[in-house]
Amino acid sequence: MSVIILGIESSCDDTSAAVIRDGILASNVIAGQKVHEEYGGVVPELASRAHQQNIVPVVDAALKRAGVNKSDLSAIAFTRGPGLLGSLLVGTSFAKGLSLGLDIPIIDVNHLHGHILSHFIRKEANDVVPEFPYICLLVSGGNSQIILVKSPSDMEVLGQTIDDAAGEAFDKCAKVMGLPYPGGPHIDRLASEGDPHRFKFSKPRISGLDYSFSGLKTSFLYTLRDNIASDPDFIEKNKADLAASLQATIIDILLTKLKKAVEQTGVRTVAIGGGVSANSGVRNAVADYCKQKGLTAFIPERAFTTDNAAMVAIAGYFKYLDNQFCEYDAAPYARVQV
Ligand code: KG4
Repeated sequence: MSVIILGIESSCDDTSAAVIRDGILASNVIAGQKVHEEYGGVVPELASRAHQQNIVPVVDAALKRAGVNKSDLSAIAFTRGPGLLGSLLVGTSFAKGLSLGLDIPIIDVNHLHGHILSHFIRKEANDVVPEFPYICLLVSGGNSQIILVKSPSDMEVLGQTIDDAAGEAFDKCAKVMGLPYPGGPHIDRLASEGDPHRFKFSKPRISGLDYSFSGLKTSFLYTLRDNIASDPDFIEKNKADLAASLQATIIDILLTKLKKAVEQTGVRTVAIGGGVSANSGVRNAVADYCKQKGLTAFIPERAFTTDNAAMVAIAGYFKYLDNQFCEYDAAPYARVQV
């Protein structure tokens, strides 16, 4: 009999549902929330309300696109955390209600595991997936971590940010440049037209495999402040060069520690995941490095870099095969480690 998992993701501002049949993706539906645009960031209460409106039609669409009836489902996997509590509560409660109605088990998924395991989302049976162990650079709005992935349930954090995440560095610097939220994709677009060597920003000097991005952010702000004093149009005139130089510095910081982790562990497979792994410069830099060193690189499809339920469903599928189900009193959590 087929194993059919419904995945539900509602950790931030995207409501998503996906169906995975015997490890192969059958559907992945994502509803974004435009309501936050005018606020320059996600407003938690508005996000929860939008999830409530979206969840039923999104799940319905995912089942229909997969050609699956509710009664065919083997289990429901849902994001339990980390994320916004109100948003998580919508997906968690929906998953519990549906599972009780259908009398099938629920599986709680750590959102970060979803990003890390997103490389196992296969559209065809012969799609290539990573071999264990592999190193995953997880870079998103809330995380910057280097993880040694030994199996779907055994992961070791080798390094992580001690202050801001890489996505925050993109978003906060973009904000002071007057770009819309989230700023990462705007910096990416502008960077393709600019000179990455024009401005020099400070890089952290931290031993080991940990990251830091707050010094870069401060040095970016000082560059703007010092130049705006003599030229009020400085940002407008130099936005492409500023974006390109900022992006190049973030990539350099990310790659320096990633290379160190590869050298220290001797692992030959490298993957990236999380929202920032959609960045063209990050993708190219990791692909080039792996090619040069003869390593196998896994660069996710852009649709699987940001929040999506396909990654929740695949992480849930692994847990299903391991008989790891959760109880109905499982409450969402705002913060959690890998
Ligand atoms: O994984 P994700 O969707 O969720 C959170 O952790 O919130 O990551 C969102 C982050 C944001 O900081 C956004 O600016 C960044 O990913 N991002 C990008 C790009 N696309 C999304 N950063 C740089 N370049 C991009 N193309």
